[in-house]
Amino acid sequence: MTSYNPMRALPTKSGYGKGDVLVLCGELFGRGYANGIVEEATRRGMTIIGTTVGRRETDGTLRHLTAAELHEAEQNLGGRVINIPLEAGFDLQPADDGRSPADQLKGVKPDAWESVRLDWDNIEQARLLGLARFKANLASVVTELEKMIPANANVLFAHIIGGGMPRARMLMPVFNKVFKGQGERYLSSAAFWGSELGRLCKLSFDEVTADTFAHLIEATDSLRQAIIARGHKAAYSAYGYHGCEALINGTYTWQSYTPYVPGWAKMRLEEIAAAARSRGIGATVFNSPEIQTNSSALFMGVEIPLYLFLEALQKEGATALAAELREECRTLLRDDVTIEQMLAAATSYLASPVLNQFAAFETWPHHNTPEQAELMLNCSARLMGMNRNPKEIVCAALSTAVVNGVGKLILDSMWEPKAHVYWLNHDIIARRLAQGE
Ligand SMILES: NC(=O)c1ccc[n+]([C@@H]2O[C@H](COP(=O)([O-])OP(=O)(O)OC[C@H]3O[C@@H](n4cnc5c(N)ncnc54)[C@H](O)[C@@H]3O)[C@@H](O)[C@H]2O)c1
Repeated sequence: MTSYNPMRALPTKSGYGKGDVLVLCGELFGRGYANGIVEEATRRGMTIIGTTVGRRETDGTLRHLTAAELHEAEQNLGGRVINIPLEAGFDLQPADDGRSPADQLKGVKPDAWESVRLDWDNIEQARLLGLARFKANLASVVTELEKMIPANANVLFAHIIGGGMPRARMLMPVFNKVFKGQGERYLSSAAFWGSELGRLCKLSFDEVTADTFAHLIEATDSLRQAIIARGHKAAYSAYGYHGCEALINGTYTWQSYTPYVPGWAKMRLEEIAAAARSRGIGATVFNSPEIQTNSSALFMGVEIPLYLFLEALQKEGATALAAELREECRTLLRDDVTIEQMLAAATSYLASPVLNQFAAFETWPHHNTPEQAELMLNCSARLMGMNRNPKEIVCAALSTAVVNGVGKLILDSMWEPKAHVYWLNHDIIARRLAQGE
């Protein structure tokens, strides 16, 4: 397992600028981590090249974006999007018998989650076919990239893909219990992970969240070598998650969200970066803080440490931004709630003795317990209830700040990538934001 490597010193500002290229592996959707790096690259005058996950027709076929969708995606990105579907994984991939793994679950009742027996030959066939499709489409993307990347450009390939929840209807109520259930609705993540459905999820997370990074590096082998031979830089970044330090009662403390079952895939991602680095390739996974995005919405409670980012900003001297964000948060909170009450509520969960058994980094990721789930979910709901309007929340404002800081740190440190993995904790992000442009 990767040893803990928090970034403690700010990297020197990078030389990426006009004429250099940022390539996104994964589609930009609006409020995720990729927005930070795209914004920062745009500010520096870099050219942005995007990709798309493609779209699924109602009959299940994977297709390109329509002209209108492509136009919207390019407007959103501020750059060209290569219109070749880069959906990874195999959940909707028909095997030789015409059935996909998701089809196997049609008609299965959610209550039967533990007793479901899957046809693993079908799953393996679908996996291999899905992999072949992804690799073939990625090869076509790289052919386009070779035409689009100017001869004098430094290139940063940013892997932004994270996911792999199999898209089977019966799984949603099961996930809701694993991630959001308490009391009678509590479901043990260990029991789920030990079931055949858990095994299917593990395969799917590995394939989507981790292995796509290896495929990206492999598919761009000759492109990378050509860029380097021309005297320029070619490097790869990816977003990981492996817990994060937040300022809890005045001390930066590593904590993590439980039950983060994609965590094993995230560790596999770190190993892929380590393997690439041992071959002399500049590949780095940036383990990033918990924020609210489309992808994290299911993990209710993951956002609790985010509230404490306000404390880190203050401590690290980002005084102007801290004041601005405090004011923004104040207007978003109900009249009868103060920022101090909000911070105290977040701290009460993170400093609770109930979390002692989840404090070990070595045994991460951890499975839930009824007591932990109840405490976390109630705390999360209480904090959400402090917002005046559930559609305009404090977490969104704080997420934007973290996304910006992370984008700057990645772009800076990828100029001379020095490690295969870094933890970007609240301290270094706050210090980077304090530094300004
Ligand atoms: N949100 C968090 O708290 C958090 C924390 C640390 C790291 N991350 C990581 O940051 C990265 C970006 O995620 P985000 O939270 O900003 O959310 P997001 O939803 O904006 O991004 C997820 C990306 O993954 C892509 N994706 C998902 N399934 C895919 C599939 N089957 N094939 C191809 N692409 C697929 C989506 O198209 C999207 O580009 C992910 O790797 C995520 O794990 C997120």
